Amino acid sequence: MAPRNHPVTVWLLPGAMLMLLSAAAAAAQGCAAARFQASARSFQRCTALPVLGATLYWTYHPANGTADLAFRAPQGAGGWVAWGINTDRPGSMVGSSVFVASPGAGGGAAVLMTVLESTSPSLTNGTLKFDVPVAPAAEYAGGAYTIYVTVALPGNNTVQNTVWQAGPLSGGRIAAHPMSGPNLQSTMRLDFLSGGRSVGTSNSVVHRRNLRNFQG
Ligand SMILES: *[C@@H]1O[C@H](CO)[C@@H](O)[C@H](O)[C@H]1NC(C)=O
Ligand SMILES: *[C@@H]1O[C@H](CO)[C@@H](O)[C@H](O)[C@H]1NC(C)=O
Ligand SMILES: *[C@@H]1O[C@H](CO)[C@@H](O)[C@H](O)[C@H]1NC(C)=O
Repeated sequence: MAPRNHPVTVWLLPGAMLMLLSAAAAAAQGCAAARFQASARSFQRCTALPVLGATLYWTYHPANGTADLAFRAPQGAGGWVAWGINTDRPGSMVGSSVFVASPGAGGGAAVLMTVLESTSPSLTNGTLKFDVPVAPAAEYAGGAYTIYVTVALPGNNTVQNTVWQAGPLSGGRIAAHPMSGPNLQSTMRLDFLSGGRSVGTSNSVVHRRNLRNFQG
């Protein structure tokens, strides 16, 4: 029956390849198709983050060691979202330098930059543990916040411990995020050069994923 199998293989192969190609195209389109209202920004890479429905888009500039990025996460208008880098250790919010987007006083979205000193941080709007050469900005549209950030990657290292978060407001002020489930899993080691990442804390199983499919 071998000779009869041959034409079947010839037929199946292009079909399988087509499916693979269209899957790759869909992934690439998801990244490239993202709309950024605040300006005509675009980014070379993106990845869907494993929890909280968030997506990170970025362009890394090797010449000056900076990354332009956009962090987008769904959230109600009465909530906040945040993204940042922990220069001290992986898998931890404490010690992280973060950008927090919340409703602005005059409408729109405001961003504050703060270092999380503890699990009950003061949220003082100040300077971070790395350079931020361009003032951050944020927008709220379509049920999601987007935070636009340019960072000098700490230590000029493309691999960083990233963190992100989402939580409610209370009396108009940023309040604690839920202390369970996805809100405790929102850390990831990310290589801004290759897109490679590992999810999870240092004492849990590390999942490695290659993000080439998410390239736009
Ligand atoms: C870094 O370099 C890129 C070009 O390689 C440039 O577009 C960008 O503005 C630079 N960023 C800063 C903060 O100097
Ligand atoms: C950062 O590292 C890159 C690549 O290793 C190098 O070309 C660049 O000069 C460095 N930039 C800074 C600001 O140290
Ligand atoms: C934090 O400070 C910056 C710079 O002074 C300012 O532009 C920004 O609106 C402040 N953020 C908040 C939430 O107050």
